[in-house]
Amino acid sequence: IKKIGVMTSGGDAPGMNAAIRAVVRACAYYDIKCLGFYRGYQGIIENDYEEMSPRSVKNIINKGGTILKSARSKDFRTKEGRQKAYDNLKEAKVDALVLIGGDGTFTGGLIFSQEYDIPVVGIPGTIDNDIRGTQFTIGYDTALNTVVEAVDKIRDTASSHNRLFFIEVMGRDAGFIALNSGVGAGAEEILIPEENIGLDTLLESLKRSRRSGKTSSIVIVAEGDKTGENVFELAEEVGKRLPEYEAKVTVIGHLQRGGSPSCFDRVLASRLGVKAIEFLLDGKRDIMVGIENNIITASDIDAIKTGHHDINRELLRISDILSI
Ligand code: F6P
Repeated sequence: IKKIGVMTSGGDAPGMNAAIRAVVRACAYYDIKCLGFYRGYQGIIENDYEEMSPRSVKNIINKGGTILKSARSKDFRTKEGRQKAYDNLKEAKVDALVLIGGDGTFTGGLIFSQEYDIPVVGIPGTIDNDIRGTQFTIGYDTALNTVVEAVDKIRDTASSHNRLFFIEVMGRDAGFIALNSGVGAGAEEILIPEENIGLDTLLESLKRSRRSGKTSSIVIVAEGDKTGENVFELAEEVGKRLPEYEAKVTVIGHLQRGGSPSCFDRVLASRLGVKAIEFLLDGKRDIMVGIENNIITASDIDAIKTGHHDINRELLRISDILSI
């Protein structure tokens, strides 16, 4: 391997810059040239890249977003788009690609590496934490901290006004952000797609809280949860059925995607970035680097497509006990 390309694709996540830095500097350390492609696969199709040096990634370990920009490329879904991308990579003499992103990014990478002889290595970067083959994805820890900080603030006003707050958090169709931030912020209820408790159980539980002397409550709702049509309708329905509560809604939204990465995400990104290059040098291809029990692992990029890893059901039980 003499030259690699690196890119970020899909939704950005805090810590992606730390991962880019690690990849670029590991390349320099091992005497490999590194091209940074802008806007993910779209940048490869449009030949939009820059040669990266250790100095081109200075002072970015602490920055949110991604200096390489990100996109979800429609062109790359077409055979012509992928052909163009391959031609450009060959022309630039790129021997392998490092893909920083989520499952959409890896699905694209897998198809590409099956069609053309180009090794790919994935680095999991998404706030959703919904990737099989790694316990943690880059950006997840920072997003959790952002959510907990926001919920703490909402709790202040919720308790001053005796209100019931429904707070929607991201996660696509997974409940990792909701479950962990819910426990961390001491939410009374956590609604996640993996465990549909149903409206009746929710109402019962909120009534119980009221009877036990609680005057305000926080319900964390994962965006993929199906208890209501959406969080606004859910709050309206609960408000009608429990008129003693004044129900309000907050959607935290893209705030969860920004901000300076936590130390955990910076360290994770640094470890995964270096290992991605070392695995390539060891001859591994079409893998994703991940972390399991604090050890950096390589899993077949194909295998990670079998759905995300399980949520920690123990946390649901803990949440139930603690919201008494
Ligand atoms: O995958 C990251 C994520 O932030 C999800 O949590 C969310 O569903 C989605 O991306 C939002 O995408 P967009 O930024 O395109 O609205």
